[in-house]
Amino acid sequence: MMDAVTGCCLLVVMMFATGARCGVDGTTNEAEPEFSEAIPNITIPVGRDIQLPCIVDNLGSYRAAWIKVETKAILTIHHHIITRNYRISLSHSDNRNFVLHIRNVQKSDRGGYMCQINTAPMKSQIGYVDVLVPPDIIMNESSTDITAREGTNVSLLCKAKGYPSPNISWRREDNQPIPLGTWHGKKVLATSFDGNQLNISRVSRLHMGAYLCIASNGVPPSVSRRILLHVNFPPVMWIPNQLVGAPLDKDVTLDCHTEAYPASINYWAKDGGDMIINDAKYETSIKEKNYKVHMRLAIKNLEPHDFGTYKCFAENSLGSTEGSIRLYEIPPPTSEPTKDTAAIRRQSVEEIEVFPRHQGLGSLKNSDKETEDLDDDQSKNPATDGKYRASEEAAAAHEDHSQTSNRKRNRSGAEKVSEKSASAEHKNVNFIMVSLVMLALLSLST
Ligand SMILES: *[C@@H]1O[C@H](CO)[C@@H](O)[C@H](O)[C@H]1NC(C)=O
Ligand SMILES: *[C@@H]1O[C@H](CO)[C@@H](O)[C@H](O)[C@H]1NC(C)=O
Ligand SMILES: *[C@@H]1O[C@H](CO)[C@@H](O)[C@H](O)[C@H]1NC(C)=O
Ligand SMILES: *[C@@H]1O[C@H](CO)[C@@H](O)[C@H](O)[C@H]1NC(C)=O
Ligand SMILES: *[C@@H]1O[C@H](CO)[C@@H](O)[C@H](O)[C@H]1NC(C)=O
Ligand SMILES: *[C@@H]1O[C@H](CO)[C@@H](O)[C@H](O)[C@H]1NC(C)=O
Repeated sequence: MMDAVTGCCLLVVMMFATGARCGVDGTTNEAEPEFSEAIPNITIPVGRDIQLPCIVDNLGSYRAAWIKVETKAILTIHHHIITRNYRISLSHSDNRNFVLHIRNVQKSDRGGYMCQINTAPMKSQIGYVDVLVPPDIIMNESSTDITAREGTNVSLLCKAKGYPSPNISWRREDNQPIPLGTWHGKKVLATSFDGNQLNISRVSRLHMGAYLCIASNGVPPSVSRRILLHVNFPPVMWIPNQLVGAPLDKDVTLDCHTEAYPASINYWAKDGGDMIINDAKYETSIKEKNYKVHMRLAIKNLEPHDFGTYKCFAENSLGSTEGSIRLYEIPPPTSEPTKDTAAIRRQSVEEIEVFPRHQGLGSLKNSDKETEDLDDDQSKNPATDGKYRASEEAAAAHEDHSQTSNRKRNRSGAEKVSEKSASAEHKNVNFIMVSLVMLALLSLST
């Protein structure tokens, strides 16, 4: 690139030279050179090629030059390229069109380009070039994957550069709303959040997942960064059916639901014995979804010694929990199922009601009252778990689970079961009990 001062002097020298010759040759009667049209202003993304035309009528023996305004560097004079910037070239025709070409424009090419004619006084025009830069995320100033303990405050940060200065927004990769905590007593939920810092107060397991920060400034392409948020919490357990009755010779399946992160180790044991392993008698299975685990234990061909207490365990680095299920023997069905029970059996497993612990048929008549009692309790003590409270409805579901798991440890409170949790999703199939319920309900309604 030519030094600005030298370039200036050179131009001045040449202008004087041509100007002087004009005077001497007596060509001053020629029409003065005029610009035919304005030089355009150009706004273009970095990396593209541009052309700046300078069109002069009646140039005659005068000379046209291109000069970079800010640096005063001379780029071209007449047909010659002066600059050593190899990306700049010139095309000319008819002693009228002088087109400056800039290949692969860079940020350093921003600024004014002057087309100058060495008349006295000199004539000039300026066109401005602005170079846009697509957004880019500044990796070392943005968050990496985060692991936080449930209940702490978490801040996800993303910084981006680009021209114009990019805007940053956040969303979850799965497009689920982000619970941002409460604000003036209202729950704040948003599917996207603008700003380079996403603050989550008292992070919960519901926040766990992949987040995208997206930087955009109108210059494609927008860019995004994926940040994984892990939320650690000790295992909690939820047992839909803590009392299971089944007749001899049948198969039965017990269910436990746990939530934990990092993933817990889950296993079953009977009456304080060893861990149950799969064999001809037992079949354990696990369904995992994110931090949720559904443990099942199938016990085949029930024999008298199979009745008793089964325990499910969940353990991770932050703690452990267990739940127990009592399996008791009931007499085999004596008659054909009634029409109504047959109808119930056709329903999906998920819809079948479940028996709360220690709630026999005898207490069924009182169940309405007890449900009311419990609902009162719930409104007074929203989250008894203490470890975890989130600010949105899904969290409320968790609290139900936590309460259920607390209840299971509380013998005096064990007989209380809300309609809500009793009708919760995961049900054990126990068609014998279902038919007994149906009989009881029928006798109630008549
Ligand atoms: C280019 O921009 C300058 C300053 O912003 C303005 O004065 C001029 O008129 C513009 N030229 C054209 C051709 O629009
Ligand atoms: C990020 O990296 C750039 C160069 O790669 C360096 O100049 C800058 O200081 C770094 N910033 C931080 C916060 O480390
Ligand atoms: C997020 O928290 C930081 C401090 O941890 C604060 O400086 C920033 O303003 C907060 N941002 C928002 C959007 O609340
Ligand atoms: C977490 O954020 C909440 C609300 O934004 C604030 O009241 C609390 O003091 C913060 N806790 C910590 C440990 O910074
Ligand atoms: C950034 O966001 C503001 C407000 O939403 C908007 O006015 C502006 O045009 C955006 N800037 C870019 C470069 O997209
Ligand atoms: C157990 O239940 C009783 C009666 O409902 C209640 O007073 C007590 O606080 C409960 N204990 C626990 C540990 O939940």
